[in-house]
Amino acid sequence: MPEKTLFEKSRPGRLGASNPTPDVPSADLPTDVLRADAAELPEMSEVDVIRHYTHLSRMNFGIDLGMYPLGSCTMKFNPRINETVARLPGFARLHPQSPRDLMPGARRLMGELAEYLAEITGFDAVTLQPAAGAQGEMTGLMLIRAYHTANGNPRKKVLIPETAHGTNPASSTLCDYTVETVRGNAHGLLDPHDLEAKMDEDVAALMITNPNTLGLFEREIARAAEIVHAKGGLVYMDGANLNAIMGYAKPGQFGADVMHINLHKTFTTPHGGGGPGAGPVAAKKILEPFFPRPVLVKRGEDYAFDDDRPRSIGKVHGFFRQLRHVCPRLHVYPRDGAGRPETRQRAGGS
Ligand SMILES: Cc1ncc(COP(=O)(O)O)c(C=O)c1O
Repeated sequence: MPEKTLFEKSRPGRLGASNPTPDVPSADLPTDVLRADAAELPEMSEVDVIRHYTHLSRMNFGIDLGMYPLGSCTMKFNPRINETVARLPGFARLHPQSPRDLMPGARRLMGELAEYLAEITGFDAVTLQPAAGAQGEMTGLMLIRAYHTANGNPRKKVLIPETAHGTNPASSTLCDYTVETVRGNAHGLLDPHDLEAKMDEDVAALMITNPNTLGLFEREIARAAEIVHAKGGLVYMDGANLNAIMGYAKPGQFGADVMHINLHKTFTTPHGGGGPGAGPVAAKKILEPFFPRPVLVKRGEDYAFDDDRPRSIGKVHGFFRQLRHVCPRLHVYPRDGAGRPETRQRAGGS
């Protein structure tokens, strides 16, 4: 049954507040600031307002009721401490337009987080700007296009295995690439012979979900990367399912050039109900000059935003606002040893 709003529950004449009798003389306000009509606010008793909001809060999905339902390929348990940390007022109340100079703690949190993610994934650099997995894909492909363009030819195609996530071809099309499908073999894995047959100098990248959408680790990933690199292409790894391999393998070391991470799957960030999400992109050094601006860089003990990035693909997100919620949760995880196999096992992996 749909919930009634406070406005629908309103009853004329009900009051939720009783103001004390003033102990100072009342003053007349200038007439030009007085409103002509009464504000149309709901009229409710205090107890009804409390009951309304308490009822709504109990309809929320929380870890005491079950797993967070999104990130279906790699379910994980969200430790309560991460929720507590995300509610620390310094993060939770950070205004999206806070002047960058006034948020050294948030800058440090983001800077350290980017370093942790680079370490966990085996890449040289990480941008935290994309707000979701699919936006991370688009960002990664924009980096690939910028890289090839800088080398004289943006190329035309992206090769995508049958077992890719559905957003992969969508992101490629959005970045103006034609998609060509690479066949899978009888075991549900990429067929390197088909890849070899389709790889040519018009191919900008192989975009491969690994572990793939069948839940299988692509065993021939290193060979696939060799085939692609031999013709000057790059390997985009959809790393949404990092949870399955975190602590065991680093994509930056088995041939991928760029990947995004779906933080809601591997770490404890929200995703259902519209976020706030985050889809950081990790990449090799060759792609770093094209990273979205501003880039967070380490200056001494501090981190600073660097806007002076003439080769940048530009901004992909206006604010770092989603990071108020995401970074603190996530920061707890790597500190707790995200690079170790136990973390994956504790999260429900085998
Ligand atoms: C493998 C894979 N890639 C990409 C995405 C897209 O991520 P998002 O929903 O955060 O845009 C998902 C969705 O969870 C996914 O499972």
